[in-house]
Amino acid sequence: MTKPSLEQPVVNKSGAKHQDGERRHSVGIDQFRILTEHAPIGIEQMDPQGRLLDANDALCTTLGYSPDEIRGKSIAELVHPEQLAEALEQHQQLIRGTITDITLKTRYLRKDRLPVWVNVTSSLAHSDDGALVWRISIVEDISERVLAQERREGDEAKYRAIIDTAVDSIVVIDDRGIIQSFNQAAKDTFGYHSAEVVGENVRMLMPLPYHAAHDGYITNYLKTGKAKIIGIGREVTGRRKDGSLFSLELSIAEWRAGEERYFTGIMRDVTDRKCSEEALRRLNETLEQRVGERTSALAEANQRLADANQRLTDQMEELRLAQTALQQVQKMEAIGKLTGGIAHDFNNLLTAISGSLDVMSLRIGDDRATQLIDAAQRAVDRGAQLTQQLLAFARQQKLRPEIADIVSLIKDFRILIDRAAGATINVEVDNEPLLWPALVDSAQFQSAILNLVMNARDAMPGGGRLAIEARNVVLNKQMAATTTPGIKPGEYVVVSIRDTGGGMTEHVMSRAFDPFFTTKETGKGTGLGLSQVYGFAQQSGGTAVIDSAFGRGTTVRVYLPRAVGVIVGAAIRVTEADEASDAAEAILVVEDDPNVLDMVAVNLSSLGYRTVVARNGREALEILRGTDPVDLLFTDVVMPGGLNGVQVAREAVSIRSGLRVLLTTGHVSLGDEAGVTIDEHLPMLKKPYRRPDLAKKLEEVLRS
Ligand SMILES: Nc1ncnc2c1ncn2[C@@H]1O[C@H](COP(=O)(O)OP(=O)(O)OP(=O)(O)O)[C@@H](O)[C@H]1O
Ligand SMILES: [Mg+2]
Repeated sequence: MTKPSLEQPVVNKSGAKHQDGERRHSVGIDQFRILTEHAPIGIEQMDPQGRLLDANDALCTTLGYSPDEIRGKSIAELVHPEQLAEALEQHQQLIRGTITDITLKTRYLRKDRLPVWVNVTSSLAHSDDGALVWRISIVEDISERVLAQERREGDEAKYRAIIDTAVDSIVVIDDRGIIQSFNQAAKDTFGYHSAEVVGENVRMLMPLPYHAAHDGYITNYLKTGKAKIIGIGREVTGRRKDGSLFSLELSIAEWRAGEERYFTGIMRDVTDRKCSEEALRRLNETLEQRVGERTSALAEANQRLADANQRLTDQMEELRLAQTALQQVQKMEAIGKLTGGIAHDFNNLLTAISGSLDVMSLRIGDDRATQLIDAAQRAVDRGAQLTQQLLAFARQQKLRPEIADIVSLIKDFRILIDRAAGATINVEVDNEPLLWPALVDSAQFQSAILNLVMNARDAMPGGGRLAIEARNVVLNKQMAATTTPGIKPGEYVVVSIRDTGGGMTEHVMSRAFDPFFTTKETGKGTGLGLSQVYGFAQQSGGTAVIDSAFGRGTTVRVYLPRAVGVIVGAAIRVTEADEASDAAEAILVVEDDPNVLDMVAVNLSSLGYRTVVARNGREALEILRGTDPVDLLFTDVVMPGGLNGVQVAREAVSIRSGLRVLLTTGHVSLGDEAGVTIDEHLPMLKKPYRRPDLAKKLEEVLRS
C-alpha cells in the first residue's frame, strides 16, 4: 500500500459525514497504512458491498495489480468463479453478522486470470464511532503449499496405485512393529482387511513360534544396527487369517520419515513355487525311475535281440553244418552208385577168372602149374573180398539184419579185437547197463568193428588206448540234421571206437569215408575200411560219423537203429560145401557176359551137367519152347534185351512146368538198380561164386 487512497468514502451506517470522525478515520487509515504497508502477507480492505478499498503491496504483487488497478475491484472480479458463490455467501454472512469471521481456502484470480490459492481470514472492523464498517482480510498466498500438497497427493496416489497393483504383499510397519499400511496383495494373501491389521503388531501375520524371534530381530537391529533380515531376503513362514501357514520370501527395506523409522516388508507367497519345485523334484525322481526302468527295459530288449541274434547265428551255423552234411551224404550216395556198378562188373570178371581157374586146375596135372593156379585163385579170393567191401560201401551187399545184443556180439569176438589191436594197445570195452538191442547183420557189424580197430591200431604205432563203448542215444530232429546227417531222428544204439592216436586233419576227415581214400603207403591200405563201415551202417538204417582233430585222437561212432523185438541168436554162417556129385541133368545157362557164359559152361560140364546156353532171355525162352531137355534154368538176373532173369524164370516155368530155376546176380538191391522185383522164393546164387558154391547150389535146387 504505497499510496493509500484518502478519496475513498468511508461511510457510517447512517451515511452522515463527521469532521471528527473523519479525522479519526484518517488517523486510523494512517495507522493501518503504516501497519500494512510492509507486511509480508497480503492484506485487503473491503466495503460491505464487497468492493476492494485498499490492498497492501504484498497482495498487489501476488495478484499482479498495481495499487491503483486493484482498488475498486469486486469480489466477483477477485475470486475464481468456481469459489465465487461460497465467497459471496461467506461475505454476506459476515456483513450481516451471522458469522464473526471467515477462514476460507479459496482461489483468487490474478490480473492475468491465473488462479492463485489463498487462505483468507477476514473479520469486520468498525470506525471508532461504529458508523463505518469494513471487512479486513489477511490474504495469504498458499499456492506453493497447495502445489506441493497436490504433488505429494499425486505421488502418494501413484505409489498407492503401484503398491496396490503389486503382486507381492507390501506391508509397512514402524519401529515397534505396528502395521502402517497393507496393500491389496497382502489383503489377498493373508485374508485380512486393512482395517483389521493397520495399527496391530505385525506378529499377527506370523505363526506363534516366530513371534518372539521377530520382536528380537527388531530390537536387536535397533540396538546394534545388525540386520538379520533387513536388506537380505529370506524365506519365512506366514500365517493367514484362517490360521493356515504358508511359505513366503521376505525382503525388508528401512526408511525414515523425520525421526520416525519405518520398515517396508515385501513378501512373495512361494507356496506355488514350492509346490512346483516339489512336483518338479518328484517328476525328476519318477523321471529318473522311468529312465532307469526304460534303460533296463532297453537293456533287456537288447539282450533279447542279442539272444535272438545268437540263435539266428546258431541256426545259420546249424544250417551250414546240415548243408555240408547233406552234400557229404549226396557225395557218398553218388560214389556208392558208381562203386556198386564197378563192383558188379568186377564180380563178373572174377567169376569168370575163378571159374576158368577151376577148370584149368582139373585139366592140368603139373604141380608147378597147379601152384600158379592156386595163387591166381587166392588173388581172385582177395579180389572178391575187395568187391565185397565195395558192395558194402555201395550198400549193395546182402545183409541179414537180426535183432542182436551188441554187447554179446563184441564179447564174442573180443579175442579177435585184441589180436587186431596188438600188444601195445590197451583195449577197454564199456557199455550202458540196459543197452537196447539193435537191428544189425552180426557178421558185417563185426567186420566193421574190426576195420575200426585196425584203423585205430594204425593211428597209434607207439601204442595207446582204445575204448569201445556202446550207449543208447535218442536223436532229436536238430541233432539228426547236424551231427548225424542222412538218418532219421529216433532211438539208436551207438558204438564208438575212440583212440588216442594222431587224429585226422580236416581234409582227411572230409574224405575218410570215400572208397579207396587212404593216407597209407601203397600196398598198406586199400582205403576201403571206413567205406565198409559207412556203407554197412547206412544200409542198416544208421550211419557212421567221425569226430577227430589232428594230434588229438579219433572217435568213430556207428549209429545202429534200436530194435524192438526179441534177440534170436547168431547169423547163419555158410559152410564150405562138398564137391557136387556128377549128374547128367541139362542146365540152360542164360548170361549176357560172354566171359562168364563160357566159364559157367565149362564149369557145368566139368561138374557133369549137360549145358545149353542162351545170351539173353528171349533166346532162353526160344530154347524152352523147343524140345531140348532142360532140367534147370540158371539165369543171370540183370540182363539187357527187355527181359530180366526173374521174368525169364516165370515165363520159363509157365512153358515147362516143373522146371527148376536158379538165379544169379552180383547186385543185391535189385529193386533200386534194375527195376527187378525179386521173388524171395526163387533160389539165388550170389556172384562171384566159387565152383563148390555152384555145385552145392545146383544140387540143392535140383533135389528140392
Ligand atoms: N583212427 C584213425 N586215426 C587216424 N586216421 C584214421 C583213422 N581211421 C582212418 N583214418 C584215416 O582214414 C583213411 C581211410 O581209412 P580206411 O580205413 O578207409 O582206409 P585205410 O585204413 O587207409 O585202408 P584199409 O582200411 O583198407 O587198410 C586212413 O588212411 C587214415 O588216413
Ligand atoms: Mg582201414
